[in-house]
Amino acid sequence: MERLTGKIAIVTGTSPNIGGGLAGGLADEGAVVVCVDVVPDNACQCADWIVGRGGRATGLVCDVTDEGAVQAMVAKVREMHGGVDVLVNNAGILGGQSVLEMPLERWSRQIAVNLGGTFLCTKHVARLMVEQQRRGSIIVIVSTAGHQGQPGNIAYCTSKSGLLNFTRAAAMDLAPHGIRVNSLTPTATDAEEGVERAVAWGRARPERRGGGLLDFRRMVPMGQLPSPRHYASAAVFLASDESELITGTDLRVDAGAVAKYWPWIPGA
Ligand SMILES: NC(=O)c1ccc[n+]([C@@H]2O[C@H](COP(=O)([O-])OP(=O)(O)OC[C@H]3O[C@@H](n4cnc5c(N)ncnc54)[C@H](O)[C@@H]3O)[C@@H](O)[C@H]2O)c1
Repeated sequence: MERLTGKIAIVTGTSPNIGGGLAGGLADEGAVVVCVDVVPDNACQCADWIVGRGGRATGLVCDVTDEGAVQAMVAKVREMHGGVDVLVNNAGILGGQSVLEMPLERWSRQIAVNLGGTFLCTKHVARLMVEQQRRGSIIVIVSTAGHQGQPGNIAYCTSKSGLLNFTRAAAMDLAPHGIRVNSLTPTATDAEEGVERAVAWGRARPERRGGGLLDFRRMVPMGQLPSPRHYASAAVFLASDESELITGTDLRVDAGAVAKYWPWIPGA
């Protein structure tokens, strides 16, 4: 049985990696999905891919840091579908630099997208939900880097930890309206599924990059890194009426990464 039939969902940041996986997962459960991205190909190819699999989707181009553009995007979704039931705030800028190196301009842009974009999309989607008295679900994509101090990633860690408390505070603002706000924490993600999706969208297979200095797979308690489909099934739960009294919480899909006693090396 499809758990999101009749629901209209906006997913931001629909690259072939996590956003594409989340959008596809919601569509597979019957949601009509609006794929929103500042990069036109990421919005349109994601929507085309969902439609090609038998789902319902549209792509819209929007920079989530531009309040006018966010308002226009929400108005367009209202015009096309009548309203919004689910918002997944996934758009983000990854990677970064240390506090010693980070230029202010780069810091400001990363904070603007990761924190400000989530604020603006939540604000305008929630206003529409309140106006229409829809008991919607808003999901905020965080990161294990929001729970821990990662070196060389100052603005990313700061923005993602900010989103954890943004989620709680927004959940309180919206609880009287029956609107739920929860975060979902991914971690270092297995690259294969995103690569396969990029190829399915007609893109060249990206070259495999070296894993860098950190051996994520060895250090994660369950010995397997999550794929976007693992995040999607958690997002479906948070979006669906199955989680009707869950708000202000964080659902970690991290194979045990944040719970781990830090000096323990799994398998050692
Ligand atoms: N990849 C990981 O290992 C990982 C781990 C933990 C958390 N996350 C989080 O998951 C989310 C998706 O990550 P991903 O790996 O798929 O990244 P990605 O770079 O593949 O996708 C990010 C998407 O956001 C879009 N975007 C960026 N700025 C935007 C803006 N101003 N307006 C609208 N769209 C914008 C990009 O165009 C892109 O499509 C991010 O929030 C990220 O922080 C990723």
